[in-house]
Amino acid sequence: MTSTLMIEGLRVEVAGKEVLKGFDLSMKTGEVHVIMGPNGSGKSTLAHALTGHPGYKVLGGSVRIDDVELLTMSPTDRARHGLLLAMQQPLEVAGVRPIDLLVAAGVNPANLRERMRDEADRVELRPEILDRFVNVDLSGGERKRAEMVQFGMLRPKFAVLDEIDSGLDVDALGAVARRLSSASNEWECGILAITHFKRLLQELTPTMIHVLSEGRVVATGGPELSDILERDGYEPFRVASA
Ligand SMILES: Nc1ncnc2c1ncn2[C@@H]1O[C@H](COP(=O)(O)OP(=O)(O)OP(=O)(O)O)[C@@H](O)[C@H]1O
Ligand SMILES: [Mg+2]
Repeated sequence: MTSTLMIEGLRVEVAGKEVLKGFDLSMKTGEVHVIMGPNGSGKSTLAHALTGHPGYKVLGGSVRIDDVELLTMSPTDRARHGLLLAMQQPLEVAGVRPIDLLVAAGVNPANLRERMRDEADRVELRPEILDRFVNVDLSGGERKRAEMVQFGMLRPKFAVLDEIDSGLDVDALGAVARRLSSASNEWECGILAITHFKRLLQELTPTMIHVLSEGRVVATGGPELSDILERDGYEPFRVASA
């Protein structure tokens, strides 16, 4: 069954400053949407607000999956409703192993270790990494790959991935892009990927690209938009937003 993620007029304040000033985006499961935008434009703020991070104060707007409002829910309930967030800087959780998180989230326990190993294989992560505490003593790229293992196991309806490509070597980048791409077929996962680089999009064909500038979407288009950004940078879009 197709689901819709609808973000309307989202306004978010961080440390006393309005960072998102009316963000709109609508997408369906099975689609791949990409957000690009200059440093500080509010991309991670969007990701944090979607997950319900307490430091990010929602001033207005709504975020719904199939007409169910998520903004009033706890982060755990948002996850239960099918929203997964992979953060730009994954946090260390000492004392907790990846498998504990999956069990707590209610993932089917049958062959859990084996299925985690399969997911690790798909993103070329050494499986013994999964026996360590979440993100503790992991390299930057290993953290990103470990996030992908959680993603593959949790099978969210919608996944928001904040710079999942940062810190990955070229081989891992290709593997992660292919894993995301196959997820959109395997369980019609809706993918909202935040990235700075067109490289991720070589194997993950976007349905739509949205350009964020100063807290608002200032342009939306097809994959060709990433070529234009690579050629011209963000300056023309800044003018468009003024
Ligand atoms: N926890 C915070 N405390 C104070 N300011 C913050 C916090 N989080 C974000 N900001 C500010 O909000 C603005 C938007 O930051 P955000 O992290 O959303 O940008 P971004 O688009 O993700 O940038 P990048 O491409 O560098 O990751 C920036 O000016 C940043 O300094
Ligand atoms: Mg960011």
